[in-house]
Parts: sequence; structure tokens; C-alpha cells
Amino acid sequence: MIQIAPSILSADFLHLEKDVELVNREADLFHLDIMDGSFVPNISFGFPVVEAIAKAARRPLDVHLMIVHPEKYVERFAKAGASMLSFHYEAALEESGAILEQIQALGVKAGIVINPDCPVQKIFPYLDKADFVLLMSVFAGFGGQKFIPESLERIAAVRAELDRRGRKEVPIEVDGGIGPENAAAVKKAGAGILVAGSAVFKAPDPAQAIAAMRR
Ligand code: DX5
Ligand code: ZN
Repeated sequence: MIQIAPSILSADFLHLEKDVELVNREADLFHLDIMDGSFVPNISFGFPVVEAIAKAARRPLDVHLMIVHPEKYVERFAKAGASMLSFHYEAALEESGAILEQIQALGVKAGIVINPDCPVQKIFPYLDKADFVLLMSVFAGFGGQKFIPESLERIAAVRAELDRRGRKEVPIEVDGGIGPENAAAVKKAGAGILVAGSAVFKAPDPAQAIAAMRR
């Protein structure tokens, strides 16, 4: 069964409670994008917002770190309420294995993320360790971008490699430009978790948009 993770980056920050309740009611995970203005050319939100959402959340918090030195902050995000924590391979390189272990030692599911221009083979050495993989289908940094079609082959390649390693239970999460129009193709390629920001929160009927992505 596919899981839907609405990205709070596209939520209504003046009425966050309304959007948190929508996720509680209709979706599976809260996707929280943490941007530092350094790893990506944008700044989103930090601990106070994550903690506030954690208090009201009845679904797990999936925290996507787009920051340099993720190892410095994973503990605080775990304390803030993250159930899943992912960091970019591009920000960690050969430290990736150690950071996956650091996250797991905090009792949190650990994920590794790559941007669309990073060869998928770069993360193969970490596939035996990761609890999930996050593949960007746009360049990290902003909501509302267009889905990059080549992402489908990348999802299939990582899915095949995970299966080859006997890790069928490890889900691939896909993030960027996903909506009802391409959800089926992304799922067919091998995704288990779909992140969607604008397609949910900018929709006239967000509950219906989520339902359409599940079908
Ligand atoms: C982009 C973020 C995404 C973003 C997705 O850097 O990682 O999670 O919020 O937004 P949409 O679904 O609008 O592309
Ligand atoms: Zn994200």
C-alpha cells in the first residue's frame, strides 16, 4: 500500500492547525523539509515549528534535512519528534554510513537522499544499512517545481538493487512535483512513499487530491 506524505512546506502557516488536522485525517506521514540556506538556496523552518507539529501529530514525522553537517542536528530533530530522518548523500559523502547509524541509535528510521543529478550508484554502498531511500524528483530547495521524468528510471534502478540485496521491505520515497497526474507512474516504478506539497495544499479539495494519489 502506497503511503502519502504531504509536505508542510506548502501548508498555510497562518492556519497550520487546519493543515495538520488534514494530514492526521487523510494522509500517512508528515513530510517536514528543513533547509539551511547553505546546502540549498532557501530557508524553511526549524525546531519550534517541528515541535509544535509533533504535539498535534497523530501520524509519524518524516524529517527531510537539506542542510550541511546533518550529523550536528540529527539528535535534536529526534528529540523534536522525528520518526524518520533523512539527510543528503551530497552533504555527507563517505560519512553517510556513520550518520545512518547515528540516526538509528536514536531509535529513528534513517534515510539517505540524492538529488536528480547524483548517479544512483553512489548510494548503493549504503543500501544494506538504510531504513528507507529518498529520491528527489526535482532539485531540493523549493516546492512547486515540475517532476523530472527521468526520475522513473532512477526509482526502478534503486528498487531493483534493493530487491537484489534482499531488502524488499525498504521503501523508496519520492519527492518533488508529484500529484494525481503522475502518482500511478511513480508507484509503478517502485515508490512506496509519495511526498506531495503543492498538489495537496494548493488543491481546491486536498482530501480528494490525496485520495486520487492513492488510487
Ligand atoms: C523540495 C522539498 C519537497 C517539496 C515538495 O526541496 O524537498 O518536499 O516541498 O513540494 P512539491 O510537491 O510542491 O514539489
Ligand atoms: Zn522534501
